Amino acid sequence: MEPEKIPKSFGRYQVLGVLGRGSMGVVYKAKDPVIGRLVAVKAIPETLGLETGKEQEYIRRLLQEAKAAGSLQHPNIVTLYDAGEAELGPFIAMEYLDGVTLKEILSSGKKLSLPQLTEIVRQVGEGLDYAAQRGIVHRDIKPANLMVVEGNLVKIMDLGIARLPFSDLTREGRLVGSPSYMSPEQLKGEKLDGRSDLFSLAVVTYQAATGKKPFPGNNIQEICYRIINHDFIPAGRLEPSLSEGFDRFMIQALAKNRDQRFKSGKEMFESLRKLLLDKEDTRVSEDDQEPEPGKEKEIPATVIKSEPVAYEESSSFSSGSDSAIDDIFRDLTLTHRSLRLTPEKENKTWQIVMGLIAGLAVIGIVVWYLIRG
Ligand SMILES: Nc1ncnc2c1ncn2[C@@H]1O[C@H](COP(=O)(O)OP(=O)(O)O)[C@@H](O)[C@H]1O
Ligand SMILES: [Mg+2]
Repeated sequence: MEPEKIPKSFGRYQVLGVLGRGSMGVVYKAKDPVIGRLVAVKAIPETLGLETGKEQEYIRRLLQEAKAAGSLQHPNIVTLYDAGEAELGPFIAMEYLDGVTLKEILSSGKKLSLPQLTEIVRQVGEGLDYAAQRGIVHRDIKPANLMVVEGNLVKIMDLGIARLPFSDLTREGRLVGSPSYMSPEQLKGEKLDGRSDLFSLAVVTYQAATGKKPFPGNNIQEICYRIINHDFIPAGRLEPSLSEGFDRFMIQALAKNRDQRFKSGKEMFESLRKLLLDKEDTRVSEDDQEPEPGKEKEIPATVIKSEPVAYEESSSFSSGSDSAIDDIFRDLTLTHRSLRLTPEKENKTWQIVMGLIAGLAVIGIVVWYLIRG
């Protein structure tokens, strides 16, 4: 096989390396020399495999949508910087993220805790609500498009980047995309609104909670049939630590009929947050006696403290990062982070070593004086 050629540049962006590969093409790490900033450049392959004419139409739509998404400014959405056509074909330049995708996290068989799930739904839900209010539907919410970045942040990638129509998911019999996260209305080719993305977010949540997709299948047809017609196994049966409340949450979030679903990401988050507060209650009550009738049961402060997340009743949906939930994704991003030793940590290590040497020297001098005197 011929070794892959890495292009030197796209427009003014100098390519530094490959970040990843997706269904549409390759994503490169690059540098914008004008302002010295790192960017991620997504190259759209010239040969999309569509019929001529359709291809031109697709590229036109892609650039048009990129333009619409370029106006989006939200902490949970990857910022789009630029879109254009270079010698090598059309490309999109966006904010470079140094993080781990949820796909990578989940591929190791990792299941997320309820506080972590709640936090993902809060942040992704905020970003999706913001886009939906501006008439933009993502259409491809999946673990590979959600990036967990240092500082307790989750970012939605690829928003407003045109998708191939569903009929083109199989090109020359080749699978180029997975419908696993798509909503029933999306599979049926209906007009979409924000609730379709929320369905996809619910599929991601189910998978992150149980380690299994709610609508599995060996081929596209089987998966589509399940999404449109089948119920899913209650999450609590796959992961016994999940409560009945969580099963109820999933039933509403994955309802086939969008009118029965949560209306917004905020509603989804609120529902999980209630569960989280309830859960603390249930967990404590396991060893406890039932409270006397009419008497409220108290939750010991230590229990609340030991939980990694404690949303206050008053905590607002749009409050952004909250000190109580700092580092909730620590164990998920740790492997990634440990590859880098920040200067701050390096300094700390040196301070400790120097401190120890100084301490030993002082003890040595004292002992020497004592022996002599
Ligand atoms: N803005 C970005 N910053 C850093 N890495 C990125 C960015 N966008 C994409 N990537 C990486 O490139 C991979 C491929 O992206 P993409 O082509 O969108 O594939 P997919 O179809 O899996 O979403 C991602 O899984 C991710 O690891
Ligand atoms: Mg992507």
